[in-house]
Amino acid sequence: MAKLKKINHVAVVVEDIDQALKFWHDALGIAVDHVEDVPSQKAQVAFLPVGDSELELVKPTAPDTGAAKFLAERGGGMHHLCFEVDNLVEMLAELKAKEIRLINEEPIELPGRKMAFIHPKSTGGVLVELYQLTQP
Ligand code: CO
Repeated sequence: MAKLKKINHVAVVVEDIDQALKFWHDALGIAVDHVEDVPSQKAQVAFLPVGDSELELVKPTAPDTGAAKFLAERGGGMHHLCFEVDNLVEMLAELKAKEIRLINEEPIELPGRKMAFIHPKSTGGVLVELYQLTQP
């Protein structure tokens, strides 16, 4: 049985990263590791490690993504929770067998990780992301 290892990150959708950092960095004191363009997700992402996990500030860079629609409809806010798993393919198969609705039935392969999302309809309204770290 596949296992969850830790919370990898919590993602917050923002309209403007510099503006958001006035709270998360300036007021709350979380250091910014780096800000990066993630073209595959049509987003700019600021990575703010906290202990063993990260806060990710996600600014959509195109209007046709889930995060962009979330921003347009709700003006930003907490977007998803990401768990690191030891075996993503196995985890997805187990969830499917339990009739959990998946957004990605197959992992999305990215450099250094694979990922998949679970549909909020099956989680009580929380968008859940699953990550498995792979060799870069
Ligand atoms: Co994420």
